[in-house]
Amino acid sequence: MIEGILFDLDGVLVSTDELHYLAWKQLADRLGIPFSREQGDRCRGVSRMDSLEIVPEQAGRPYSQAEKEAFAQEKNQAYRAMLSNLSPADVPGEVVPTLKQLRQRGYRLALASGSKNAGLILERTGLGAWLDAVADGTCIRRSKPDPEIFLTAARLLGLPPSRCAAMDDAVAGIQAGRAAGMLTIAIGDSAVHRAGAYNLTRFDQLLELFPGPGEEGAL
Ligand code: BG6
Ligand code: MG
Repeated sequence: MIEGILFDLDGVLVSTDELHYLAWKQLADRLGIPFSREQGDRCRGVSRMDSLEIVPEQAGRPYSQAEKEAFAQEKNQAYRAMLSNLSPADVPGEVVPTLKQLRQRGYRLALASGSKNAGLILERTGLGAWLDAVADGTCIRRSKPDPEIFLTAARLLGLPPSRCAAMDDAVAGIQAGRAAGMLTIAIGDSAVHRAGAYNLTRFDQLLELFPGPGEEGAL
């Protein structure tokens, strides 16, 4: 029986996944390195530094740790500049009504994002108001596919992993949720890969999976 739903942020609650891609692409273009959408998809859910194992794959030479750290900083600056225009209008229309309905049905909701920019995004979009707990990139040491972020979010909600569902657009995120012992729900890229126990095409399909008390759901 599921009591808590843990959400990834970028690409699940808001379309900032595209801004991550564009910021990496900007860096790759400046370095003259090809960077494909497929590489961008593999960066989903992966930390900023770990993404630098993927972004320069086609560079033809390895980069030093110091160079990678400078690249991470450069990308983050470009990304944060893109976030400066973010507002509640950037949250897809079905997201807030769905979160509201799930809370009314008694589910506890938490963020489980590997991003260190999550606080800024929650503030700018107003999404923080719908969450009972927030676990983000500032609270963990190991990024997805490690289960740490989902386990941390469950702990903040005071729920055992077996009572939580993990929703993520990243294949690495679904692997993390599964490793945490949670029911996994894929959307976007991870759903295209059929990585989740449930693979959704729309965010509000959560309302079919998680019924109100006394109602029958699809689970
Ligand atoms: C994840 C994104 O949510 O956060 C990744 O899917 C990103 O692309 C990771 O690398 C870390 O984000 P940030 O904002 O700390 O660089
Ligand atoms: Mg994501």
